[in-house]
Amino acid sequence: MAKEYGHYDDAAREYVITDPCTPWPWINYLGTEDFFGLISNTAGGYSFCKDAKFRRITRYRYNGVPMDAGGRYFYIKDGDTVWNPGWKPCKTPLDFYECRHGMNYTSIEGRKDGVTAKVLFFVPLMTWAEVQKLTLTNTTDKVKKLKLFSFQEWCLWNASTDMENFQRNFSTGEVEIEGSVIYHKTEYKERRNHYAYYSVNATVQGFDSDRESFLGLYNGFDAPQAVLEGKPRNSVAHGWSPIASHYLEIELKPGESRDLVFVLGYVENAQDDKWESKGVINKRMARETLSRLDTAAKVDAEFKRLCQYWDNLLQIFSVKSADERLDRTVNIWNQYQCMITFCFSRSASFFESGIGRGMGFRDSNQDLIGFVHQIPERARERIIDIASTQFADGGCYHQYQPLTKRGNDGIGGGFNDDPMWLIFGVCGYLRETGDFSILDEPVPFDNVPGSEKSLFEHLTISFDHVINNLGPHGLPLIGRADWNDCMNLNCFSNDPDESFQTTENKTEGSKAESLMIAGLFVFSGRDYVELCRHLGRNAEADRAQKYIDEMVVSVEKYGWDGEWFLRAYDYFGRKVGSKENEEGQIFIESNGWCTMAGIGLKEGLCDKALDSVKEHLDSEHGIVLNNPAFTRYYIEYGEISSYPAGYKENAGIFCHNNPWVIIGETVRGNGKAAMEYWRKICPAYIKDQTLHKVEPYVYSQMVAGKDAFRPGEGKNSWLTGTAAWNWYTITQFILGIKPTYNGLEIDPCISPDMKEYKVTRKFRGATYEIEIKNPNGATHGIKSISVNGKEITGNLIPLFEEDSFVKITAIL
Ligand code: GLC
Ligand code: GLC
Repeated sequence: MAKEYGHYDDAAREYVITDPCTPWPWINYLGTEDFFGLISNTAGGYSFCKDAKFRRITRYRYNGVPMDAGGRYFYIKDGDTVWNPGWKPCKTPLDFYECRHGMNYTSIEGRKDGVTAKVLFFVPLMTWAEVQKLTLTNTTDKVKKLKLFSFQEWCLWNASTDMENFQRNFSTGEVEIEGSVIYHKTEYKERRNHYAYYSVNATVQGFDSDRESFLGLYNGFDAPQAVLEGKPRNSVAHGWSPIASHYLEIELKPGESRDLVFVLGYVENAQDDKWESKGVINKRMARETLSRLDTAAKVDAEFKRLCQYWDNLLQIFSVKSADERLDRTVNIWNQYQCMITFCFSRSASFFESGIGRGMGFRDSNQDLIGFVHQIPERARERIIDIASTQFADGGCYHQYQPLTKRGNDGIGGGFNDDPMWLIFGVCGYLRETGDFSILDEPVPFDNVPGSEKSLFEHLTISFDHVINNLGPHGLPLIGRADWNDCMNLNCFSNDPDESFQTTENKTEGSKAESLMIAGLFVFSGRDYVELCRHLGRNAEADRAQKYIDEMVVSVEKYGWDGEWFLRAYDYFGRKVGSKENEEGQIFIESNGWCTMAGIGLKEGLCDKALDSVKEHLDSEHGIVLNNPAFTRYYIEYGEISSYPAGYKENAGIFCHNNPWVIIGETVRGNGKAAMEYWRKICPAYIKDQTLHKVEPYVYSQMVAGKDAFRPGEGKNSWLTGTAAWNWYTITQFILGIKPTYNGLEIDPCISPDMKEYKVTRKFRGATYEIEIKNPNGATHGIKSISVNGKEITGNLIPLFEEDSFVKITAIL
C-alpha cells in the first residue's frame, strides 16, 4: 500500500494529518467573511482582510526555501530543547504530531518530553480577527518550567510592494506596544486608516517587535536568537521588518493544563476618529474585539457558533449511500471547497499568490452553482457585482478586483465566452431561489453610474454578444480566448515579454471561431429561452430559439470532424482539433459542451464524440484536455502550446472540464461511464498520496496527464472551477436532484451497481427526503415516483410550502 500522510474523520468533518512531512504543504482556510487566513499543516501561511493583495496582514514568502516558511509560530523552550507544536520551523522531532483540518478551522497538536501543545486556529463569525487558542499540558509528574514565544511577521499591507519596494519599506515600519498587545501601524499616520494587532490574554514577561532583534540577522525562523537564548529583547521596531512576538514564562504542575488565547486582529477607523492622542492610534475597536475573546470559555462559545454555522450549511444537501467516499465528498469536502472558491475565487492559495488575479468574470459565474444553495443572499450580491463589470455591448472585463469591485483594465476584455457565463450563473441562482426580483435590479455597465439597465437586459445583451460576433461558419468568434485561456488564436506572439492572453497581434479579418462557445451558447442559450418562457416573454424566447437552432445547424455542418467535434477554426480559418491536424487532433472542451448540449444526439454524433473521447483522451487519472499533446510551439495557437506536454492546458487532466464529458455521458444515459470518470478525478478515491502530492481532500485544477513526466501528480489545489463543476455534476446529473423553476426534478444517472441511496435536500424552505431505489441495476430512467406515499406522473416534484417535510421514493 502506498504511504499515507493522513486520513478522513467523517464524524468530525475533519481531515487528519499524522505526518508533518507531507509531499507538499497541505493547507486549509480560516474565515467566512472579510477576515481570512491560509494555514498549512505546519502552521505556515498568512492572513488578510477582504483583499489578499491590498490588505495583507502578515507576510509570506512564496516558493521559499525551505518550502512554506513563515506563519503562526509558537516556540516552546523546555530546558535546552526548542520545539513547535506543528513541527516547523524548528523541525525538532516530536513524540506525537497531528493536524486536523476542519470546516474553517485547523487544530495542530504536538507533544514533546511530556508537554502537549495544542493550538486551535479559527476566525469567529462576523469578526475581523483570528483566534489562536493554545493549550499547554504537563503530562509528567514533575513541575515544568517553559518559555513560550509567539511569532508573526507583519506585511506592510500591499502584498505586492511589500516584496519589491525596499528603499521605502525599510524605513516605514511602525508599531505601538501596550500591555500584551502589539499594534502594527505602518502608514497609519498618512493615508491609511487601518492597523493590525496581536495579543495574548495574559501578562507577558517580554516581547519583540523587530525581526532582526528577535531572529538575529543571519538566522532563519528555525533558530531565533531570542528563543535560543531564552531572552526576549523587548525590541520596538523602527523601520526594517516589524514583527509581533510575546514572551511568557509558564510553570505547569504535574497534570496541569493552561489555555492561552492569542488574537490576531485588524481594525479600520473612521477618518475623523483615527487617533487617541497625537501619534497614538485609536484602539477602541481592538479593545472591543479583545474583550469578546479574552477567556477560553468565550473562545469556545465562538468556536461552537462556527461549527453550528457549518452544520446549517451542510444540512441543505446530504447523501447516504453504500459508498462512504461518495458521501464524504458530497456531504463535506466538495461543499466546503465550493465555499472556499466563493470566498477566494482564484486569488490566494499556495499556487495563487494573492497579488495577481482578482475575481474572474467566468470563474465567479461558474462558482455560483457550487454555493448558491448555501448562501443565496451572498450569491445575489455576487451576481450584481459581476454583472456591473459588463460592457454595454455585452462584452466583459475578464477580471475584477474584490476590494473596489471594478473591472481590471490591465486585462481588459475580449474573452468571448465570458458573457454566456452570466446567463449560466443567473439561471442557476433563479432555479435554486425562485428570486425573480433580481432580474429587475438596475445594474450599471462598467460600474458607470447612470448607465443602469435591468439584470434581465444584461442577459439579453450577453446572449446577443455571441450572435453579434459570429465568424465565417456562423460559429462564435473566439476573441482572445474562450474557456481555455490558453487557446490564443489571434495572439501570434514571438515576444516572450508579451502576455499571451492580453496580446492580439492579429485581429483584422480573423476567422478564429470556437466550438466550445458554440456548445455553451446552445446549452446556456436554452436556459435563456426557458427563462424567457417562464417570464411570459415569448417573443424574445422565439427570437433566441431561432439563433440557437441556427447554431446547431452550423455546428453539425462545420463543427463535425467525422468522429468528434472540432475544437475551433484558427485565424486563417483552418481546422483545430481535427484528424487532419498533426497534433491536438481532439479536445475535451468542444466534445464536452456539444454533447452536454445534445447537439446531434439523434443522429448519433454525441455517441461517436463520447466514444472518441474515451478512446483518445481517457487515461488512468482522468480525461486529458487534448491529444496528441503539442510538442512544439505553434504561434497560431498561443499559450496552449507553450506548456510541456501533459501539463496544464496542453494535455493535462484539467479536472475542471472532466465534468463536461461526464454530463455528456449522462445525456446519453451512460451512468456507468459517468461515475467511472467522476471517481478518477475525485480526491476521496486517490490511491497514491505521494504521487498526487497536493491535498487529498480537495480537487486540484490539474493533474498531470498521460504525456507528462509524472502522470497523476496534482497541482493548483483548492481554487478552481473544478469544485463547482463536480458539485453540479454529482448532485444534479449523477445523483440526479435538479432544482428547476417549478420544483425538484429527479433524474439520476448512476452506475448499475448502486442499488440505493438517500438524499436529503432543503429546497425553497421545504425538506425533501428522497430515496432512490435501483433493484434491477439500471443506470437511468425513473420508472415510478411516489410523493408522500402517492404516485405521481413524470419526475418533477412540485414546490411545497415552507417547512413542509416531503418524502419521496423513486424507483429506477
Ligand atoms: C483556469 C482559469 C479559468 C480557465 C481555465 C482554463 O482555471 O481560472 O478561467 O477557464 O484555467 O484555461
Ligand atoms: C494561465 C493558466 C490558466 C489560467 C490563466 C489565468 O494561463 O495556465 O490556467 O486560466 O493563467 O490568467
